[in-house]
Amino acid sequence: MKIFVAGATGAIGRPVLNQLLAKGHNVVALTRSQERAQSLAAQGIEPAIADVFDPDSVKAAIAHAQPEVVIEQLTALPKTYSRESMSAAGPLNTRIRLEGGANVLAAAQAAGVRRYLRQSVAFWGIPGAGLADEATPLSLDASPAVAADARLVTEIERRLLESNLEGIALRYGFFYGPGTWFNPDGDVAQQVRQQQFPIVGNGDGVWSWLHIEDAAIATVAAAEQGNPGVYLIVDDQPLAVRDWLPAFARSLNAPPPPPVSVEDALKMEGGADSVYYQTQMRGASNAKAKRKLNFQPRLLEWVVETAVTHAS
Ligand SMILES: NC(=O)c1ccc[n+]([C@@H]2O[C@H](COP(=O)([O-])OP(=O)(O)OC[C@H]3O[C@@H](n4cnc5c(N)ncnc54)[C@H](OP(=O)(O)O)[C@@H]3O)[C@@H](O)[C@H]2O)c1
Repeated sequence: MKIFVAGATGAIGRPVLNQLLAKGHNVVALTRSQERAQSLAAQGIEPAIADVFDPDSVKAAIAHAQPEVVIEQLTALPKTYSRESMSAAGPLNTRIRLEGGANVLAAAQAAGVRRYLRQSVAFWGIPGAGLADEATPLSLDASPAVAADARLVTEIERRLLESNLEGIALRYGFFYGPGTWFNPDGDVAQQVRQQQFPIVGNGDGVWSWLHIEDAAIATVAAAEQGNPGVYLIVDDQPLAVRDWLPAFARSLNAPPPPPVSVEDALKMEGGADSVYYQTQMRGASNAKAKRKLNFQPRLLEWVVETAVTHAS
């Protein structure tokens, strides 16, 4: 199939391109950069140069490419994962998902694209017992940043699923693997080494993980064989912060993460959001992805690593 990828040069875009090439697809990749366009071409990928905030140039790029499928992985997230950097990046990240995404969607519709997949978020299922599934309502009334993102996700998924395309929203778990915050050379690993990533309260918040290579495999499977709708793409091991964070620290040979009380966390800027992430977040179920996409995620790398280390 001919597949056009927006957000092709980011942490998730790169493995998606590799997986598409490995499956024999004809790939067109969007970038703003002449230099990245050249390296894409060297890999056998047709580059398309446009800025998604310029609707005419995106329209021209997709009309020229004439793809059957568009995969949208646009983000404007920072390389560092701190309260300050995330809130500084927030407005542009919101704008790229809303306005940039709308421009790509409109361009796809105008070019007669059949199927459109976009990146979405697996973490916002409303807190409750067990794992969230695709029908679980999102946390629209949670702490400020969580509620704002849950509303944004609701809006971008609504636009896609109500469009006349075969729309697929891929709600990814927390990415780890090369190029992500949680890679050993990534920003969170660095914070953990410096004991700057504490466990808040009981650490009961459950995080669902996803290796970016598995994200790419599931994305390409959904492009090839998914039915329209929402898919949670997460691994098999949703883990409470009190479990994954010490294991992550051990895998880095870092000291144990320091504890912080909920009361102290709430005194900090953005504290209500930290408390949500660390004590209330709900894990997600990959049952639908397994059933419909034959998704077979790997075990969470650092939990396997530390289990092996402890056994030896
Ligand atoms: N689920 C998760 O946990 C999750 C989800 C997303 C991201 N993240 C994290 O966020 C960090 C950075 O992620 P990332 O790889 O997505 O970011 P990134 O490396 O900044 O990639 C963003 C992508 O969007 C494209 N883009 C941005 N603005 C654009 C514009 N105006 N017009 C056209 N294209 C535009 C970029 O293309 P060009 O620059 O080539 O033009 C690039 O392909 C990583 O640590 C990642 O793990 C985590």
